[in-house]
Amino acid sequence: MSSERVSIHGQWSSRLAFVLAATGSAVGLGNIWKFPYITGENGGGAFVLVYLACIAVIGIPIMMAEVMLGRRGRQSPINTMRTLAAEEHASKHWQWLGWAGVIAGFLILSYYSVIAGWALSYVFRTGSGLFTGLTADGVQTIFTNLTGDPERLLAWHTLFMVMTMIVVAQGVRNGLEKAVKWLMPMLFVLLFIMVGYAWNSGSFEQGLNFLFQPDFEKITANGILIAMGHAFFTLSLGMGAIMVYGSYLPAGASIARTSILVSLMDTAVALLAGMAIFPIVFANGLEPGSGPGLIFQTLPIAFGHMQYGAFFGMLFFVLLVFAAWSSSISLIEPAVAWLVENRGMTRGSASIIAGVVTWLVGLLTVLSFNLWSEVKLLSYFAIFRDSTPFDLLDYLTANIMLPLGGLLIAIFAARKMSRASSVDELGMGDRFFYPVWRFLVRYITPIAVIIVFLKAIGIIDWLVSWYDRLV
Ligand code: TRP
Repeated sequence: MSSERVSIHGQWSSRLAFVLAATGSAVGLGNIWKFPYITGENGGGAFVLVYLACIAVIGIPIMMAEVMLGRRGRQSPINTMRTLAAEEHASKHWQWLGWAGVIAGFLILSYYSVIAGWALSYVFRTGSGLFTGLTADGVQTIFTNLTGDPERLLAWHTLFMVMTMIVVAQGVRNGLEKAVKWLMPMLFVLLFIMVGYAWNSGSFEQGLNFLFQPDFEKITANGILIAMGHAFFTLSLGMGAIMVYGSYLPAGASIARTSILVSLMDTAVALLAGMAIFPIVFANGLEPGSGPGLIFQTLPIAFGHMQYGAFFGMLFFVLLVFAAWSSSISLIEPAVAWLVENRGMTRGSASIIAGVVTWLVGLLTVLSFNLWSEVKLLSYFAIFRDSTPFDLLDYLTANIMLPLGGLLIAIFAARKMSRASSVDELGMGDRFFYPVWRFLVRYITPIAVIIVFLKAIGIIDWLVSWYDRLV
């Protein structure tokens, strides 16, 4: 029955178009900017291993669930959840999941856009040869000059939000879908070039050991939560972005194969970025845990010393901006689709409203790197002692809202939705792979998310010590 439902927003032209769009959403700053710096902050190998496990056990099954719900509902996540809840005789409160996703999307895009602004400004900095011959110190000074200047950050943030609004206004299927087809392979090639440079001129072995030799002493409960949160973040899961993209997916396209393909490409980009960056970090005596500026303080050293560095550097940041662009549009698409469906707006006005709200929230992040860099709202809690408003926004969204959203998506898809409906929508029969998926989403995913939460809050340690005292 649901296969007759059609989206008022149109459909992808093919399964390939969906793969490109979903990869465009998944691959972004999360892979190239965030993955290396949080890996650095959380000690390397063990963190990477936990992250990879989360992708396999939590990420891929949840991606399938999100695409499935989207395609069955064929509307914005809010209306999809409302429709499916009614159809499956579940509570109408499930629509709140859609609302939570819209809010998470605004919050994430608000800081995502500021960081994408850094990348935009680096297109011009690398292109002009500013970094040629510079040492790590010089590169670092250039970065702190940028982030220390709220007006410049604001200007780049504004430009990036305008770029995002323009594409969203035209509909995600026009324009960017075609660009991603060319730019994604180019990004791969450029990452290989960077890894090649790191191989020749960096501390390659030390970099690889840092990334791939797990030392479990180095990871904390909070680190495990960050690794899990990042699995959601990097695959664009838990807030409806992949759900809304799924709502434009043609009937009959394989959801399982598509999700696995997108996840593999996404993981490959992150690992390549790590392999390019850490050898440079160690070769220049830099600190792996130096935070959100990591790629902006390491890669320019390489561009400043390699042949045609200004050209490659500019190309690299252009591709990074495109990767961020194709991700940012998926962050407000759920809100825009809802405004069009329920408020009768055109895509143009809907994008402007969503964009302006996001832009305003983005001011918190702009100020976090300069005027408000000493504002530590939650310094009472040890893990947030040094957290700026930007750090808190990132923590709240990536490590709390997305996993919670994912947990609820898992519960709905495998427990509220009837087996018949999910068999029908996934279209992979009900033997072999289907039971594996259902088992993962019914038991493993929710339990894993809950355990990681309880461990991070410290409840599990508290229970263990209480039990020790008893026996
Ligand atoms: N996945 C993107 C990245 O890694 C960011 C992103 C796009 C996202 N859409 C999302 C994150 C939805 C969470 C939810 O850069």
